Amino acid sequence: MNQPSGLAALLDEIFQKIDRIPNFPETAQKALRLLQDERLDFKELERVVRHDAAITANFLKLVNSAAFGLPRKVNTLLQAFSLLGINQIKFVLIASCMGQYLKEPIKGYNLTPEQIWTHSLACGLMAEALARRGGLSRPENLFTAALLHDIGKIVIDLYVEGEMENLREVLQKNPELTFMQAEWIVLGADHGIVGAELLRRWGFPKEVYFAVRAHHDESLMLETRTAALTALSNALVNLMGIGTGVDVFAYHLPEGLLEAAKVSEKDLYPAIVETFEKAEAIKAGLFA
Ligand SMILES: [Fe+2]
Ligand SMILES: [Fe+2]
Repeated sequence: MNQPSGLAALLDEIFQKIDRIPNFPETAQKALRLLQDERLDFKELERVVRHDAAITANFLKLVNSAAFGLPRKVNTLLQAFSLLGINQIKFVLIASCMGQYLKEPIKGYNLTPEQIWTHSLACGLMAEALARRGGLSRPENLFTAALLHDIGKIVIDLYVEGEMENLREVLQKNPELTFMQAEWIVLGADHGIVGAELLRRWGFPKEVYFAVRAHHDESLMLETRTAALTALSNALVNLMGIGTGVDVFAYHLPEGLLEAAKVSEKDLYPAIVETFEKAEAIKAGLFA
């Protein structure tokens, strides 16, 4: 990303200070590369994924929730792959990788692991529902962006620990500020830009980290369809009250967002209903 030099230095400082963010799992990187090939071999994919016990466990837990509508309980990755569509495999795999970053509460944003995980999953499900209705054929970058859009909150929370009180105070005293403006005043960066920097360092494609960068930026979010869909999904999931923290209503949305996302107004209601039902089913499966 082209950053002003002050911001680049701040991001360096943030990432130097943080040693608790693990690397994005190599297993997941390999699996995502395999998934880019149309003629995917499930056996090869299975060999790659099963190396990581945490991802495998998350994968099986997720697919066995009612949200994925499998006809029977599956016990192996291969069984799951054979019953899921390719886009569902991509979705569940990315979601499974993400689960391991969401184990601790994000104190500053007032989020429990359950809230941030449900919010992230719901945002991914919403993006998937909107993309399917809008005929997006290769949605994996969108899934990644939508599922990981708030990952910067984890980084900021680790970096600032004590600053978060200030952030809340600034927002209380200046209700006209958006949450992102307050993050800039207090921290000099926002969770979108920090999350994007993390994903860039992890080697994700620009389409992904740009969408994460843009998800609260009213002009950037109009620049690509993936960014617009990510921002729209997040906004809808916030309005539905799924796993939201202190920042739930402190954002604006620009005109032209639906056009940039190529989403028709008539698709919003069914996508909301579908996301709600699936998110509830996943929650019941994961947190019962
Ligand atoms: Fe966000
Ligand atoms: Fe969000």
